[in-house]
Order: sequence, then structure tokens, then C-alpha cells
Amino acid sequence: MRKKITVVGAGNVGANCAVWAAKKELGDVVLVDLAEGIPQGKGLDLLQAGPVEGFDVTVTGTNDYAPTANSDVVIITAGIARKPGMTRDDLLITNYNVIKSVTEQVVKLSPNAILILVTNPLDAMAQVALMVSNFPKNRVIGMAGVLDTARFRTFIAQELNVAVTNVTAVVLGGHGDTMVPLVRLSSVSGIPLTELISEERLAAIVDRTRKGGAEIVSYLKTGSAYYAPAASAVEMADSILRDKKKVLPCAAYLEGEYGINGLFVGVPCKLGANGIEQIYEIKLTEQETAELHKSAAAVQELVDVIKAKMSEA
Ligand code: LAC
Repeated sequence: MRKKITVVGAGNVGANCAVWAAKKELGDVVLVDLAEGIPQGKGLDLLQAGPVEGFDVTVTGTNDYAPTANSDVVIITAGIARKPGMTRDDLLITNYNVIKSVTEQVVKLSPNAILILVTNPLDAMAQVALMVSNFPKNRVIGMAGVLDTARFRTFIAQELNVAVTNVTAVVLGGHGDTMVPLVRLSSVSGIPLTELISEERLAAIVDRTRKGGAEIVSYLKTGSAYYAPAASAVEMADSILRDKKKVLPCAAYLEGEYGINGLFVGVPCKLGANGIEQIYEIKLTEQETAELHKSAAAVQELVDVIKAKMSEA
């Protein structure tokens, strides 16, 4: 049986997820969005790229969820994006309502799917999807770390004029300005960054990574990044659908790991056919732990707002 991958939201991130997923032939792609005609138009257009690019999957665009039934992986990108001056947290209540409704519809038809959340504020939206779906925690995953490490790796490669594929990096924490790029554990083919880049330059690269999303928003003005976010979500889907067991930084529901309990925070995870198959708990220095806990506290604040809203309803 072919795999089925649903992308919810046919905006820039969703459409590009569909493109990467089709190009990699991860499975048949269903693109769903409320906007009449948009998923159908983009879906048909992408399908017609198949003969040129040589991919052989079906792509279906739809306004209703029926064609999403029995999806293996569902990537959720629906919601509003940031405009200049907004933080990811400013999107909280609007996107909470979107994610609640999307999750309810998705899980009715795909009770065994693995959900990959992309909508911001990311960690809090992953928590909403977990609560609404009632899925086990290994099947609800947030995309943030792959994107944040991709940005970190890009800036390091630019700084040193080396192949970006040689740069490995670790970023922990929430997908916000408090994220924790771990310089100590990042390297170029095993050579520690600290031996290659001055402390001052490293601090500037860490800062640029933290603000990587805002940098793109400030250029685009009408929305946020989409190529790298989509590629990142699809790398996660690929590892799951092909059971590759890649170790990728993901927002995962923690229950005691890193001293954090009952909260989604970015940590290294093994992704395979069962979703999150392992969470790696790295030994951190005192300062790194303090930074991670500060980042988790920022996520907790948002989750508290949502929990209060859920208890009102
Ligand atoms: C970013 C948005 C997608 O980091 O969160 O670009």
C-alpha cells in the first residue's frame, strides 16, 4: 500500500511541503485548505509537474477532509503567519482555534496518523494538538529544531566557507527568541566550533539564529519563511515514512526529561515508523540547563493561557 501524506493549509508553507513530499515520492499527497479553489488549483498544478520532475504520486487538493482518511502522516501548517513587528506568540489565540478545529477533523478520519505541527507558536500548538487528539505522545511532534539548526548550520558554513553538509549543530528549547543553540556540541566534521570561530562571532551567529525567523519576516513583510520550514517538516515526514530513524531536533512532549514535565520543548529525537522512538537526554552544563529552563518557561506561559481558555469552554 502506498503511503498517504496530508498537508493541512495550502499557503506558502503547506504548498511547499506538498512540493517536497511529492518530489521525494513520500506517498500520495492530499492538500487541504478552507479557501475554495486554492488547494485544488495548487494540487493540480503540482500534479502536472510530475511528468517534468519524474515523480509518480497523486496529488489531491480539497476543501473537505474526506480524501485525507487513513493518512500515515499529517503535516499541519494552517493558521495565520507573522507580520513585521509580531512575535510568534502574538498568533496564540487565533491559531489555537485553527489547530483545535483542524486536529478534531484530522483525527476522526486518520486515527493512526502521526501529526507534525508547523503552525506557530509552535510548541504551544503541538500541545494543543496532543490535548485535542488524545494521541500518544510519540505521534504528535512539532517542527522547529530542524529549521533552527538548518539556520545555525547555514550561518556557520557561510562564516567558514565550508560545505553546509559538514556542519552539524544542536539547538534545544522552544521555537522562540529564547531557543538554545548549543555551540559546545556543534561542529564542522567533528572539529569543535570553538576552535574555528571567535567567541564574539559565535555570539553573533547564535543571535542571528535565534532571530532567524524574524529576519525573513522583515524582508517579506506580508508573511514568514516557507522554503526552509517546509523542507524541515518534510525531512521529519521522510524519516517517519521510510523508518530512517534519523536523530533530529523536534518539539516533543517531555515528561521529566531535562527536568521538564508536561510540556513540548525542542530536544533531539529519533524519528521512525512509530514517530518519536527515543528522546535523547544530553548532559548539559549548568548554564545550558538554565537557558533551556528559561526557554521552557516561555512555552509554559503560552500553554497556561491556552489551558485557561480550554477550561472556559
Ligand atoms: C520561522 C517561522 C516559520 O521560524 O516560525 O521562520
